[in-house]
Amino acid sequence: MPPQYRLFFELAREPFGADIPADKILLTDNITAVQQRIDYTLRTGAVALLTGEIGSGKSTALRYVTQAMHPAEHLCLYVTATTGSILELYRQILAALALDNRGVSRALMLQTIRQQVLELTGAKKLKLLLVIDEASLLRLEVFAELHTLLQFDMDAKPYLPLVMAGQNNLLDALSYRTALPLASRVVARSHLEGLHRQQMQHYLQHHLAIAGVTRNLFDDSAVTAIHQGSGGLLRKANHLARGALIVAAKQKSMTVSAEHVRLAATELL
Ligand SMILES: Nc1ncnc2c1ncn2[C@@H]1O[C@H](COP(=O)(O)OP(=O)(O)OP(=O)(O)O)[C@@H](O)[C@H]1O
Ligand SMILES: [Mg+2]
Repeated sequence: MPPQYRLFFELAREPFGADIPADKILLTDNITAVQQRIDYTLRTGAVALLTGEIGSGKSTALRYVTQAMHPAEHLCLYVTATTGSILELYRQILAALALDNRGVSRALMLQTIRQQVLELTGAKKLKLLLVIDEASLLRLEVFAELHTLLQFDMDAKPYLPLVMAGQNNLLDALSYRTALPLASRVVARSHLEGLHRQQMQHYLQHHLAIAGVTRNLFDDSAVTAIHQGSGGLLRKANHLARGALIVAAKQKSMTVSAEHVRLAATELL
C-alpha cells in the first residue's frame, strides 16, 4: 500500500527518486555542456573533468552521456573510485573489461588492461572511454600514476580517453606536481552549477511527470523556497520537494506552498 501522501496526490510512484531510468533524465544545459566536452575528449583521446557540488547531478550527467553512446561503436568502462591504491583501481578496470582481476601483480594488471584495450580499439575498432566517478576520492599517488594507463610509453597515440568526475577538490588534487603528467592531458572541463529558478520549476514539473502527475502541485512560493533552500542543487531539491508534498498531504492541502517547504526543511541536515 503506497504511503498516504502518494494516495492523496495520486502519485503512481515515489516522486523525486534517486533511481530515475536513463530515458527519464532531464536534458539540462549542464548535461549538453558535459556531452560536448566528452565528445571532444573522445575525439582527441585526452582527459576531461566534471566537477560540481554534492548532488549537483554529476553522476546523472555521466549516465545520460554514456548511455547515449552507440554500443556498436563505443565501450564505456565505468568505475566508481575508492580511497584504495592504484591496484584497487586496476582491479575495477579489469572487472569493467570483464577480465579476471584476482591476485596478480600491478605490472601484470597494467599489461592485461593495455592488451585488452589495444585489442578492443584495434581489431574490434571500438572507441573506449574510461569514466572514473567520485575521482576526488582517489589518493594522490593514484593521480601520479594514472597517466601511464592512458598511453604506451613507446607510442604517443592516446588510446584510452578518460573522464574524471568529482567534487571541486578534484582540481586541488590535480594541481600537485606529481599529478602534472595527468593534468597536462586535460583538454575540457565542466563545472555543474545549481539550476536557476526557472529551470528549477521545469525540473520539479519533470519529476512530478515521472511520478505520473501532470498538474502543477507546487505554487510559485514553493518553487522559490525549494530553489533557495537547495541552492539549485538537485538532490537537496528532491528531498525538499518530496518532504513538502508529505507535509501538504498531512494538512490536506492540494497545492504545496513555501510554508510546507519550510516545515520539510526542518527535517533535513
Ligand atoms: N538531469 C536530471 N534529470 C532528472 N533528475 C536529475 C538530473 N540530474 C540529477 N537528478 C536528480 O538529482 C539526484 C542527484 O544527482 P547525482 O547523484 O547525479 O548528483 P552527484 O553530483 O553525482 O552527487 P554526488 O556529489 O553525491 O556524487 C539524482 O538522484 C536525480 O534524482
Ligand atoms: Mg555522484
